Amino acid sequence: MKALMRHAPLVAFCLTIGVLFLTEGVPWVVAQSEAAPATAQASTTAPSDTSDTAVSSDKTGETVEVAEDETSSSGDDDQKAGAAADGAPEAADKASDAVECCKPGDQTPPTELVEKIPPGGLHSPYPDYKKMAADDPKLVVQFRLPGCNECHGGTGGGGFCPALSQGVWFWGNTDDVLFRLITLGSDGLEKQGFYRRQWGSVHAGMPAMGHTIKTADHLWKIIAFIRSINPPGTNPPEKVIPGKMELEDWEK
Ligand code: HEC
Repeated sequence: MKALMRHAPLVAFCLTIGVLFLTEGVPWVVAQSEAAPATAQASTTAPSDTSDTAVSSDKTGETVEVAEDETSSSGDDDQKAGAAADGAPEAADKASDAVECCKPGDQTPPTELVEKIPPGGLHSPYPDYKKMAADDPKLVVQFRLPGCNECHGGTGGGGFCPALSQGVWFWGNTDDVLFRLITLGSDGLEKQGFYRRQWGSVHAGMPAMGHTIKTADHLWKIIAFIRSINPPGTNPPEKVIPGKMELEDWEK
């Protein structure tokens, strides 16, 4: 709550943006002209196909109480809806198949991987994110390509949406959780049976970005970049914050 007060102007601004999501569906133009300087250098590769998901994930903000309801019996329906929305209605049946995950250079689309691999099963092939970031000063470009900088700032330090560099993890900090959150958005992650651990400075959902990231390899590099800008000790293995979920949600 204290953090919320401190960020009151930011929260107010983000709420405005949230309303724009709902009414306009195209926040990018506004973001370009009104956002903080951090986003002014934003690339022109605005993710154009996320406006729909942005609207639906924004609803997550309004239904946060529901997320607490661990007795929810609608897991089954949710999951079907989630799978159908991604055009992979057979995903739930495949969940138990042994699928190999995850190798460097994996060309599988992230949207496919999150349906194939049961929750908890995604592991980064690049655990040494520090070395990766040190070896490649341009790693940040991987983060900017899909337009993450539009909301999170050019270097991930915060734009009109939360900074990704604070060692605070809203849904958990495992490879599995981050890969799914970025691919499916907050709404989609919830549909896979995960529960939010806490809110950040902005009460808005993360849009599904999976469709703008072509390969799992690209996303693992983005995740390595995100870890590299967080303070020491806030990433696994030093500090593991698991995704909160009831596994049965997936197995049903
Ligand atoms: C439309 C704005 C928007 C875009 C674009 C966006 N995000 Fe987010 N992101 C958010 C919001 C809002 C949250 C907070 C979500 C929540 O609390 O559920 C968030 C949360 C996150 C988190 C969790 C942070 C934490 O501390 O737990 C990560 C990681 C993340 N985003 C990565 C990305 C990546 C990578 C991209 C690009 C592929 C991206 N985001 C694009 C708005 C955005």
